[in-house]
Amino acid sequence: MTVVNPISEAKPISIKEILSRNLQDILFPAQLKLVPQVNEVYELALAFFESQVLSDEEIQRNGAYFAEVNGQPTRHFLMCQGAPLRLAEHSSSRLKSFFKINQFKTGYDTNGLFPYRGKFHPQMIKALINVMGLKPGDTVLDPMMGSGTVLIEATLMGINSIGFDASPFCEFMTRAKIHGLRVPLKAIKAALDNFDSTFEYFCSTIGATETSVSTAKKKLLKKKKISATGKELLPYGFKKESVQNYLLLAFLDAKGYSERSQRKSFKEQFKAILERYYFVAEKIQTVLDGFQEELGEAKPRLGDARKMPLDDRSIDGIIFSPPYSFAIDYLENDAYHLKALGVDIDKLSNGMVGLRGRTQTAKYENYIQDMTRIISECSRVLKPGKLCSIVVGTNNNQLSNILKVRPEEVKGIDEQLIEIAQNHGLNLIRKIERQITGMANTMRLEFIVMLQKNPLT
Ligand SMILES: C[S@@+](CC[C@H](N)C(=O)[O-])C[C@H]1O[C@@H](n2cnc3c(N)ncnc32)[C@H](O)[C@@H]1O
Repeated sequence: MTVVNPISEAKPISIKEILSRNLQDILFPAQLKLVPQVNEVYELALAFFESQVLSDEEIQRNGAYFAEVNGQPTRHFLMCQGAPLRLAEHSSSRLKSFFKINQFKTGYDTNGLFPYRGKFHPQMIKALINVMGLKPGDTVLDPMMGSGTVLIEATLMGINSIGFDASPFCEFMTRAKIHGLRVPLKAIKAALDNFDSTFEYFCSTIGATETSVSTAKKKLLKKKKISATGKELLPYGFKKESVQNYLLLAFLDAKGYSERSQRKSFKEQFKAILERYYFVAEKIQTVLDGFQEELGEAKPRLGDARKMPLDDRSIDGIIFSPPYSFAIDYLENDAYHLKALGVDIDKLSNGMVGLRGRTQTAKYENYIQDMTRIISECSRVLKPGKLCSIVVGTNNNQLSNILKVRPEEVKGIDEQLIEIAQNHGLNLIRKIERQITGMANTMRLEFIVMLQKNPLT
């Protein structure tokens, strides 16, 4: 039996020929081998775009979806291979299997540290950076950086980055994760080797008392000895900001875990988490050995996306995901850490997109107003012809309740943002749909909305 070949010229081919070809051979040149776990349509689309816009050398260095180029492993493959993010023995099997089955998508490098709801899949961000045409030396902006995924991926790719977040905890967390790419491993090892002293030290300087990050760090610097043992703590490199921030993030991570789960004592949690932080830093730095000079420069800042201190037309690309606060209250989620860092949560909530307003209707109206200001800012700072990608979810049933219209008549948040963008000189060039597969997400569907700034503005 013969059929018309649907893919190339209208030449009859046998059913056997059709079935013997796999999609990968049809879509990609022979020298490219996909990473395992590419199993969603949006991933295949991004992989295809990467293969079209990047040279073999660029795929080898910065590609997100390829394991090999001409038989040589890519840097992405090397970063992800081996044991996935080392989780504590007592972690749930659900958590362990999540990181195992998503080994090439998330959890690799310092992105996997610290649970933060609404995190991007780093592999997807790496691909977006590529397909938006960003190259080493360019600058990418994330106006609402959260846990810093865009900045971390950009740094690894040799691309400079600027990130803002209204939450001081996000600014701190991003900075610490970036530090993890270069932090002196000896210092983290010293903290582990002297674990009792490390624990005692952090408890006595930060403890459960409310204190600001800068006060905590000042206290850490002043205190050189541990009274109980008389030993000098963290003798190697401890005065380095990178060491302090990385250890402090691990400490706050452990505090958060022990608040949520009673399975281990806080001390045991801290030890397991510090081991993971060491494992992650060592793993990524081994891959980067010899390439540290190629890393981009990241600037995480505390700031308001509605009014960014950036020059007009100064940015080469923007990637962000706005909060969808009808689904996630970031301040409530981070309340413990924010309090531990001495932040006044009530004051902070006035500046948080999605939280302003007393009723759901008021919140929704303020949300649209705030997003209009943010999109207008994005358009202002972007260079003409460059791209802005917004990753956004929508929950039309919820919107239908708020707006009192039938679900089928609701204009989703994605559609509303596209309309606002178009009014600000950002034109839609592509919208990609993606299922949300994260552990604790309320929304199951989101969109990657790719916009291009009018080249003539
Ligand atoms: C969906 S999260 C971003 C997550 C991020 N893409 C990641 O990978 O971790 C949205 C972020 O917007 C931040 N945010 C809310 N209002 C803001 C504002 N006015 N300016 C800057 N950031 C804001 C929140 O603190 C939250 O971290």
